Amino acid sequence: MYKITVSAPGKLLLFGEHAVVYGQPAIVSAVDKRLSIIVEEVTDSQIIINAPEAFDTRFIDAILSQYSITKGLRITTASAFSGKYGFGSSSAVTVALCKALSELMGKQLSDQELFQQAFKIISQVQGTGSGVDIAASIFGGTIFYQKNPLMIEPLAPDWNQIAFVVGYSGIKANTVEIIRELKQKHDKEPEKFAKIMNAIGSLVNQAKESLTENDWERVGKYMNFNQEYLRDLGVSNQKLEDMILAAKKSGAFGAKLSGAGGGDSIIALVAMDKKTDVENAIAQAGGEIVESYIGSEGVKIEEII
Ligand code: MEV
Repeated sequence: MYKITVSAPGKLLLFGEHAVVYGQPAIVSAVDKRLSIIVEEVTDSQIIINAPEAFDTRFIDAILSQYSITKGLRITTASAFSGKYGFGSSSAVTVALCKALSELMGKQLSDQELFQQAFKIISQVQGTGSGVDIAASIFGGTIFYQKNPLMIEPLAPDWNQIAFVVGYSGIKANTVEIIRELKQKHDKEPEKFAKIMNAIGSLVNQAKESLTENDWERVGKYMNFNQEYLRDLGVSNQKLEDMILAAKKSGAFGAKLSGAGGGDSIIALVAMDKKTDVENAIAQAGGEIVESYIGSEGVKIEEII
């Protein structure tokens, strides 16, 4: 009986969340926290799903129906990260399961083909999204991403020189709802929002340059500018702001929310010798420190039996 285990990483948005949905570029990194999925053939007349990490099993259902699979499989997920942090657990599940099933069917998809398939599933289930989370889960590392025309460009900053501190706000954000609310605001004041989105887009291009040069001070400054725009878009909140301020006051080069906002996590860019100070400050502001390293590898087959 065939059994395959595939793992896919979670992600952190370094720059450009939300604006990326409106066609602007973003920079995303895969994190060392991975989600694993085990797909086993079983002699059963149904599909057995044991997926506590995939809070929303609609993604799994959509993939099974895409592959017209109705019986004889057990699907189990295990994750090194909680779905609440905003690391993109739905995207990681989608990527890992598409990869596992395509292998099971004997179709070895290229990364590009896997991206198209996973993006289709996410768009179908969520009705929105840029695909940036999926790109991070598939390709890994750090990526300069744009939706249309599709651009997935690997970046290679020297992450060994620097640390990222991740602080979870304690509030689980509803990404789809936040994107929808923003769209409503956007449609009411399209010019104002277009201006902010464009400004974020040019900031992301500048941040890309600074990252390539490992110019951390400038990278931090762009993170702070990005946060101001996210605040203008209305996706920040008091808890996130408190954690961000605490990080900056204790010596971070820059800090911002990462992902949809409204909750989830913040990231702070810090010199190695400031890491503990910044962690303590974020914790004091009520954040939960989530030990994580960025720039890890994309989706991979762990085992085939
Ligand atoms: C969520 O991780 C990032 C958003 O920009 C949504 C998306 O790009 O699909 C808020």
